[in-house]
Amino acid sequence: MRRTLPVGCSFVKALICDNYNGIDALRVGEFPDPEPTSGTVLISVEAASVNFADTLIVQGQYQVRPETPFVPGTELAGVVERADDVEDLSKGDRVTAYLGYGAIAERVVAFPVSILKLPDSVSFEEGATIPVAFGTSYHALVDRAQIDPGEMLLVLGAAGGVGLAAVQIGKALGATVIGAVSTEEKASAVLDAGADHVIRYDQTPLREGIATATDGAGVDVVYDPVGGEMTELALRSTKWNGCLLVVGFASGDIPSIPLNLSLVKGNSIVGVFWGRFTIEEPDQSRENNHQIMEWIAEGKLTPVVQKRYSLDEAVDALHWVANRSAIGRVIITP
Ligand SMILES: NC(=O)c1ccc[n+]([C@@H]2O[C@H](COP(=O)([O-])OP(=O)(O)OC[C@H]3O[C@@H](n4cnc5c(N)ncnc54)[C@H](OP(=O)(O)O)[C@@H]3O)[C@@H](O)[C@H]2O)c1
Repeated sequence: MRRTLPVGCSFVKALICDNYNGIDALRVGEFPDPEPTSGTVLISVEAASVNFADTLIVQGQYQVRPETPFVPGTELAGVVERADDVEDLSKGDRVTAYLGYGAIAERVVAFPVSILKLPDSVSFEEGATIPVAFGTSYHALVDRAQIDPGEMLLVLGAAGGVGLAAVQIGKALGATVIGAVSTEEKASAVLDAGADHVIRYDQTPLREGIATATDGAGVDVVYDPVGGEMTELALRSTKWNGCLLVVGFASGDIPSIPLNLSLVKGNSIVGVFWGRFTIEEPDQSRENNHQIMEWIAEGKLTPVVQKRYSLDEAVDALHWVANRSAIGRVIITP
């Protein structure tokens, strides 16, 4: 269904979700050009990255259900076109921004709080992958788990967007990192990102892999964006006072956990909701972003872009992520 538009309305090319019938029902077409108001920022999009959440939102399976038609796309990088009454941002600035949805389009309007300036050394394609993956993993490991140097960190789905960022941030924080993945290509990517150990959980039972990597001691922190049966197995392999970070359910299954497991190990099951954190704790979020950008500029963190698609190929990009093929992020260039 198309919206009725006022005469004289201009358009941008975008990926459009007309209904909640999934990825194959998406189309590339014209959508009303976003109009910036005072205090908001108009950005010309150079690259948008595809998140797993984008594949859910177009099926109506995400926490947020925008009114249709809408433009999917969580995050982007580009150039500021207008920034009326906005401090610290002006026309021509290179930026990355988090929107929730709307990013897979030629132009977007964003609130300053969700915008970060890009260092010159970071390309637009790399920049478009920064806010969610690095923001979530930094918040999870630093604010929520308060991981200490030398601690053992297990990252499930370690070659995915947030997983690969967790591996890199874990190493930057001085943890010993074990990445768990389902293919050889993903295992290589995780080792390249600095992981100390890798477990092929499609080949080796997860608990056996953890026992081998830790000489039977178990892990201090589990970073879990996968859910399903892996969650309980990982929780059972935590040490006394360990911590399970609940990040997501890419397997499609939200597990039910016997709470006695938490009692007998004195461990914590800790929720992570980065999007809400940025709203509830904006000062802390800004501080986190500052540290992330500093580490990226220093080369301690490296955004990983696996594949690039044009806007006309956007449906293929979403399928690639939904089919469990992504390593790091894939990019759409409008
Ligand atoms: N809590 C938060 O604030 C927050 C923020 C961002 C994202 N998330 C959530 O975190 C999860 C991962 O997001 P992402 O963008 O990093 O996704 P992604 O790049 O697609 O990575 C997900 C990983 O999950 C694993 N997986 C296991 N079973 C899968 C299945 N049936 N289908 C797809 N992947 C499967 C895959 O690794 P293997 O093949 O190696 O198993 C894959 O690499 C999503 O659930 C997302 O909604 C949460």
